[in-house]
Amino acid sequence: MAEWNNSQLRKYNIKLGKIPVLQHDDPKLDSYLCNNKPVLIKGSQLISSALNWDIDYLQKHMSSICCNVMISSNHRFKYYDQKKITPTLTFKPLSRPSPMTFSEFADKMKKWKKGDPRLYMQQALNNSIGHHIVRDFVMFNWDWVISKQKICKWGPLTSNLLLISQEGNITPCHYDEQQNMFAVVRGHKRFILFPPSQFECLYPHPVHHPYDRQSQVDFDNPDYIKFPKFKDACGYEVVVGPKDVLYIPIYWFHHVESLMSSSYTVSINFWFKTGPIEKIEYPLQDYQKMTIMRNVEKMLGEALHDPNEVGSILRTIVVGRYTSDEN
Ligand code: SIN
Ligand code: FE
Repeated sequence: MAEWNNSQLRKYNIKLGKIPVLQHDDPKLDSYLCNNKPVLIKGSQLISSALNWDIDYLQKHMSSICCNVMISSNHRFKYYDQKKITPTLTFKPLSRPSPMTFSEFADKMKKWKKGDPRLYMQQALNNSIGHHIVRDFVMFNWDWVISKQKICKWGPLTSNLLLISQEGNITPCHYDEQQNMFAVVRGHKRFILFPPSQFECLYPHPVHHPYDRQSQVDFDNPDYIKFPKFKDACGYEVVVGPKDVLYIPIYWFHHVESLMSSSYTVSINFWFKTGPIEKIEYPLQDYQKMTIMRNVEKMLGEALHDPNEVGSILRTIVVGRYTSDEN
C-alpha cells in the first residue's frame, strides 16, 4: 500500500508538537492510558482479523446492510445532533445523512469523480452486519483491549464504528464524551489533538446547539476577530496508519484528515465510557471541569426554558464581579 508524505498534510497556522509512539508492550503505556494522555500504539494486533476489509470484501459480505452515509458538498464532515435542531434555529449543515445499502455506497465510491458530493460512511458494527464480518469482529484482540479497559477502570464498551472515508475528507475539530481506541485498517489518517485545557482557544459551540462539542473555528480559514485566542492554540499531531491504534482521551479535541496514500481509508473505533469516580481529588482535572461546564450550561438552559438566555445570564454573573481586578 502507498505511503504518505508531508506534502499531503494540510497546512494550518497552528503550533504543533508530536504525539508519543509506544509499542503495545512498553511498560510506560499504561501510565499514558490511565492518565488521559494520547499515545500512538504499535503492534497491538487489535484489528488484525480486519486487515482484509477493503471495499470489495465488505461489499461481498455486507451488500444489503443499510449504512449511515454522510454526504457533503465540501470536504468537511462536521457532525451535528439532529435532536438539537429546533424550528426557531436557522441551521444549514453542509453535510447531511443519506442512508443507503453498503452496495450502493460501494458503487458510489467506485464511480466517484471530482465535483461529485463527497461521501463518508460511519456505521456501528453490530450483529446485523453479516456473519463473515461478525466472525472477523469476534477475532479482534479483545484480550488486549479489555485488559487496558480494566487497568484504566474505564466503563463498558459502548460501540465500535466502522468508518470509510474518501481521501481528502476532514472531520473538523471536536471532542467526544468517551475514551476512544482508534484503529486504522487501510490508508492513513492525520490527527491533530488538543488537550481540554485549550477549551478557550477552540471555542466549542454551546451545548444546546446542534454543533455541540464541535469547535466553531474553521481551521482552513480562521476568523481571528471572532476567535482571537485561536492564535494561542497548540496541538499535537500524528499520522495513524494500518495496524496502528491511537488512544484519544475523553474530552481531548481532535481534527482528522484522510490522506492521499490511498483513495479511501477504513478505520474502526472502540468507544468506552469513563469509569465511576472512586474518590474525588482536588484540584480537579481539566476533563472533570469540562463535565461541570457542560452540566452548568444544560441546567441553566432547562431552568430558563430557553437556551438562548444561557449566555446572557452567565455574562451577568461574571461581568464586573468575577472580572474585576479585586479578585
Ligand atoms: C474520523 O476518523 O474522521 C473521526 C474519528 C473521531 O472523531 O473519533
Ligand atoms: Fe471524535
